Amino acid sequence: MKRLALAIAGALGLGGGALLSAWPAHAAADPARGERIYARCLACHALAYHRVGPRHCGLLGRKAGAAAGFEYSPAMRQSGLTWNAQTLDRFLAAPMKVVPGTTMTYDGVPERQDRADLIAYLRNADSTEACRAGEAAGR
Ligand code: HEC
Repeated sequence: MKRLALAIAGALGLGGGALLSAWPAHAAADPARGERIYARCLACHALAYHRVGPRHCGLLGRKAGAAAGFEYSPAMRQSGLTWNAQTLDRFLAAPMKVVPGTTMTYDGVPERQDRADLIAYLRNADSTEACRAGEAAGR
């Protein structure tokens, strides 16, 4: 695909970069855009502390239902999931289908690119002040 795009770009006399950057299939995950999408989650979640939903600092690499001090549904605790880019992508597409019985009564994020950006944001969030402060406090 890349070589084809470059060949087309070459044929059109364009810089390959210019064409490739406008090629949607090559769009990279954008954590800044993900932060804006995370606004949808703020109704129930915060990065650094539990609200209606559990805190999200340290999410990637954590087992589902394992943040200390949050009362999860049995469905989440027993889901057998560990959060990584793949499991988050699946869960966030359709939370109530992927973990039937979850108390996260939210329809999900239908757009694949939105989920990718959101996951990039969550991954980066661990290095933010909010998350590091919580870690220092032993949360
Ligand atoms: C209506 C409230 C609500 C909204 C909106 C919501 N969540 Fe949740 N979320 C919850 C609740 C409640 C849980 C705990 C679910 C359980 O125990 O079954 C949860 C759990 C999770 C978990 C599992 C965490 C863990 O520690 O295992 C992830 C991941 C998650 N939410 C991500 C998101 C993201 C990303 C968004 C925004 C796109 C979002 N949620 C929007 C309420 C919400």
